[in-house]
Amino acid sequence: MARSKPRNPPLRVLVTAGPTREHVDPVRYLTNESSGRMGFALAQAAARAGHRVTLVAGPVALPTPHGVARVDVTSAREMLAACRKAFRSADVLIMAAAVADWRPARVLAGKWRAKDGGAQRASLELVRNPDILATLAARKGARLVCGFALETGAGERRARAKLARKQLDCIVLNDASALNAERTRVVLLESSGAREELAGGKTAVARALLARIAALRTSRS
Ligand code: C5P
Repeated sequence: MARSKPRNPPLRVLVTAGPTREHVDPVRYLTNESSGRMGFALAQAAARAGHRVTLVAGPVALPTPHGVARVDVTSAREMLAACRKAFRSADVLIMAAAVADWRPARVLAGKWRAKDGGAQRASLELVRNPDILATLAARKGARLVCGFALETGAGERRARAKLARKQLDCIVLNDASALNAERTRVVLLESSGAREELAGGKTAVARALLARIAALRTSRS
């Protein structure tokens, strides 16, 4: 589809998508359930609206949307490094990635072997990953920063708390039923207190979200 000319000057939009993968050994890892579809749909919507888009993607099997500059990463720390770089020249950050909160304290060089007849229990020491969104939002300046929240209970209360704690401008509350699905239902909560519900195919919801986020950023400058 052709890129349309934005009514306002194009924005530099940084989108993250997909899970991160935290290796235990060369063949095993911790990760989150995430298809990456929502983030890819947002990147596509932004490029089609004429904005300049960088997509930092965790390991997902999705094609790069037309006109989008893609940076592939594996772990949360790699995602943080790629985002720090792109954030410098961004106007908007949309953090749709499902970042792993924890990573193994040590990565084994060889395969972790369960010895025959050995112990029936083992434990894995974990350390906290950096919070990419909170780290970048703490020095956002005029940038518009949007997070995502996936909650299984007390969704709006928890999402509002996250919005305040991570110093976001808005947060998209997702339902767990949207994982890997084609359709979704989200609630967009803004720091002004505004609330909007959107439902439909991920492409249509992404387009509506992107339009609202771009309008919020443009109304600032
Ligand atoms: O606190 P929670 O993980 O639910 O927050 C979700 C939001 O924070 C998402 O936008 C996610 O991409 C971001 N996040 C992050 N770095 C982490 C954990 C979450 O950027 N380590």
